[in-house]
Amino acid sequence: MNNDLNAQWMQRDLAVLWHPCTQMKDHECIPLIPIQRAQGLYLEDFNGNRYLDAISSWWTTLFGHCHPYINERIKAQVDTLEHVMLAGFSHQPVIELSERLVHITPTGLNRVFYADNGSSSIEVALKMSLHYWRNQGQSQKTRFATITNGYHGETIGTMSVGDIPLYTDTYKALLFDSIKVPTPDCYWREAGQSWEDYSRHMFTHMEKALAEHHHHIAAVILEPLVQGAAGMRMYHPVYLSLLRQACDRYNVHLIVDEIAVGMGRTGTLFACEQAHITPDFMVLSKGLTGGYLPLAAVLTTDTVYEAFYDDYEKLNGFLHSHTYTGNPLACAAALATLDLIEQENIIQKNQQTAQYMAQATAHLHDHPHVAEVRQTGMILAIEMVKDKASKTPFDWRERRGLRIFNHALSQGVLLRPLGNVIYFMPPYIIEKSHIDLLAQVASDGIDLAVR
Ligand SMILES: Cc1ncc(COP(=O)(O)O)c(C=O)c1O
Repeated sequence: MNNDLNAQWMQRDLAVLWHPCTQMKDHECIPLIPIQRAQGLYLEDFNGNRYLDAISSWWTTLFGHCHPYINERIKAQVDTLEHVMLAGFSHQPVIELSERLVHITPTGLNRVFYADNGSSSIEVALKMSLHYWRNQGQSQKTRFATITNGYHGETIGTMSVGDIPLYTDTYKALLFDSIKVPTPDCYWREAGQSWEDYSRHMFTHMEKALAEHHHHIAAVILEPLVQGAAGMRMYHPVYLSLLRQACDRYNVHLIVDEIAVGMGRTGTLFACEQAHITPDFMVLSKGLTGGYLPLAAVLTTDTVYEAFYDDYEKLNGFLHSHTYTGNPLACAAALATLDLIEQENIIQKNQQTAQYMAQATAHLHDHPHVAEVRQTGMILAIEMVKDKASKTPFDWRERRGLRIFNHALSQGVLLRPLGNVIYFMPPYIIEKSHIDLLAQVASDGIDLAVR
C-alpha cells in the first residue's frame, strides 16, 4: 500500500486543478505540496512535514495560521449571519469595521467602499477617480500615471497600471495606455547616495509627467515604499510627500495601494504614515483579514463621496458592485485582526522583530553574490546577483530562485523567491530562533544556487 499521502493528494490535484501563477508542466518535476493543516507559523503536509511560512502565504497571514482568537470570532459570526448583500442592506461587522478603519487610517479618509479581493478594489479606486472628475465636469481626465515596476493585480485595469512584463506583456492588446515614469527604486542609487537623495532626484520624472499631462490625468497610483512583486524594491517616504504636494498642485488624485504593505508591514500601521500624507484613495486587502478570508477596502474622502451624492437619474452614483462585498465573515476576521494589532502592541513589537531580522542577515551584505540586503519594517529582501560590483543579475531563465525554494523546503521553510530576490515577510508572531533559521536557510540556499 502507498503510504505517501502527499503523492496521493498531488495526483488527485493534478488531475483536476489549474494552479495560479504556475506553469503546470513544472509539476512534472517539482512536487506540489498538499497542505493538511496549519498552526501558528507552520503549514503541515499530509505526510506530517512542517514548513515555516516565511512569506505569510502570499503576504496575508499576520498572526499565524489558525489563530484561536480569529477562529473564535469567525465561528461566532457564522452562527449569527453568514452573508447578506450590501446594496440596500447592512450589518454589524461591516459598520464596526468601517468605523474602525476610518479611525485608524490617515485623517480625512472618512468613507469606506468594499470589494472582495485586491485587484477588484484597485479597479474600484481607478473607476471612482475617473468618475469623480466626470461628475465635476472634467471628463477629459481619463488617464492614470504610475511608476515603473509597479504591481496592482491581474485584472485588465490593474495590469494596465502595472509594469511587470512577465504578467502583462501577453495581454498588451487588452490594456489601456497609462503614463509610466521611472521608479524611485533605491536599488539603482549611486554608491554613497542616500535613499532620500535618490528618491528626491527620481521625483523630477514624476513632476515632469504631471506638468505635461495633468489636464488628462485622473490619478497617480503606486505602491507606497515597497514595490512587492517587482522584487521588494524600496524607496524613501520623501517621494510620497513630494507626490502628495504635486498631486494637490496639479489637481490630480493620489491612489495609494497598501494591499501588501498596510496593516503594520512597513513599521507603521500604514506605509503612507511615514510620509505624513493622506491620499485621496487608500486601498487595503491581504492582511486586512489576517489572511483568513477575501476582503478589500477602498477608503476615500468626503470630497470624493459628496461628488457622487445626487439624484439617481443623473447617473452620478457609483454603480459598482461585487457579490461578496463586505461579507460578514470576512469583516469579523478583519475586526479580530484589528483587535490583535491593538492588544498586542504590534507596531512596537514589529520594530524589535525587524531589528533582529536585520541583525541575523547582516553577514549577507558581504556575500560575493549579494548586491543588497534591504529592509522596510517587516519586509527584508536579499538581492542575489551574478556580479556584485556591476549588479549584473543572473539570467531569470536559470531559475536560481527555484533552487533556493527547493533547498528551503528541504529544511522545513517556505521561501518563495521573486526571481533572484529572496525575501522574508513572516507572520508577526515570528521569534528570534525562527529568524536565525531563515537567515541560515537563505545563506545556504544562496551558496547552493550560485554554483
Ligand atoms: C500591491 C498589490 N496590489 C494589488 C494586488 C492584487 O491583489 P489580489 O491578488 O487580491 O487581486 C497585490 C497582490 O499581490 C499586490 O501585492
